[in-house]
Amino acid sequence: MKYAIETENLTKKYKNFTAVNSLNLKIPDKSIFGLLGPNGAGKTTSIKMLTCLIQPTEGTGIVGGYDITKNPNEVREIIGMVPQQVSLYNDLTILENAELCADFYGVPVDEKFDRIEDLMELVDIKYAKDKLVKQLSGGQKQKASLVASLVHRPDILFLDEPTIGLDPTTKRILWDLIRELNDDGHTIILCSHDMYEVDKLCDFLGIINTGNLVAYDTPQALKDGLAVSVKKEHDADISNSLESILKEKAEIEDLTQTHATDVFSEKIDDDLDHLLFRKISFILEDNSPEIIEDLRNNPYVHKVNISHNGRITLRIDNFNDEAISNILKNIISKGINIKSIATEEPSLEDVFMKATAEVNEDERA
Ligand SMILES: Nc1ncnc2c1ncn2[C@@H]1O[C@H](COP(=O)(O)OP(=O)(O)OP(=O)(O)O)[C@@H](O)[C@H]1O
Ligand SMILES: [Mg+2]
Repeated sequence: MKYAIETENLTKKYKNFTAVNSLNLKIPDKSIFGLLGPNGAGKTTSIKMLTCLIQPTEGTGIVGGYDITKNPNEVREIIGMVPQQVSLYNDLTILENAELCADFYGVPVDEKFDRIEDLMELVDIKYAKDKLVKQLSGGQKQKASLVASLVHRPDILFLDEPTIGLDPTTKRILWDLIRELNDDGHTIILCSHDMYEVDKLCDFLGIINTGNLVAYDTPQALKDGLAVSVKKEHDADISNSLESILKEKAEIEDLTQTHATDVFSEKIDDDLDHLLFRKISFILEDNSPEIIEDLRNNPYVHKVNISHNGRITLRIDNFNDEAISNILKNIISKGINIKSIATEEPSLEDVFMKATAEVNEDERA
């Protein structure tokens, strides 16, 4: 596989503090890659090194075939960057800022205005082209920044939280634009805290925590992997719990089996429950006691909840593919109409929470 970016022990230290710790990352060519991590994890610092805004303390990175430490000028030619803090000239207009960028990158004069106009139309900011940047709203500044960074048609585009503060419509315009650019062969590196956004857009995700890469895969594989790893932990938990229960049982003679089960079920906390069991909920035309009893007795169903509006929520085994169809077939065979249905799987937010859960406070200082 060809890589747009490869880093080798890429490290940034500020005195004794390590902001990025020996990052080894491969970003496939022409992919959309999402970089996730909590505040202060080292995302912007990594991007700044890859875009040659700051120098690594150790290690290096190859961006579009060029070494960031040896050939920074070549790297700058083929990349575009929309920084977290918009860095346009406040006293120039949107058009003037875009022109400046085009001239800097040597965009042919006869193409310059057409390109700028197309881009302004694409992100819907042409109406404000003659406004000074300092007069723009936050979202308008983001759009202006996009126009300026795309005018030289960079092969590799870095976007550091580009949709922050954008309204839902503009966000979608930007998502479409990212997809279009990617379809045209541009590699996109996207930093974001929006899990929905990265789940929808990205081919691959890397999660960094306190400067270290803690997860890397496709969004789906990360979600699937989470379910499996949680199941393993859960199984280990069960055997540990059983061991301690049996020990307790031996110590306390009158501990009944029911009591042991209670102790055991308390061990499964809600979060784990959430990941181990898929949630399926529906509204039936009629919640007859018979169907509720049936659901409770269904071997695939772990838990049944009925809310005040009649919505039935089931926790079902995440690892059994037959569970949903078995439950639905059963309801339909009784002639009951299902008015609405929804399922919930482990989300990227769950993956993020788990991957970044173990933080050594000293490392964040
Ligand atoms: N110039 C600097 N001098 C000292 N420390 C710095 C400097 N720049 C960044 N840091 C530290 O490096 C760490 C990583 O910062 P970075 O901006 O890369 O985080 P981030 O992952 O982009 O976070 P956010 O999600 O908040 O944007 C932080 O702890 C930050 O305080
Ligand atoms: Mg940042």
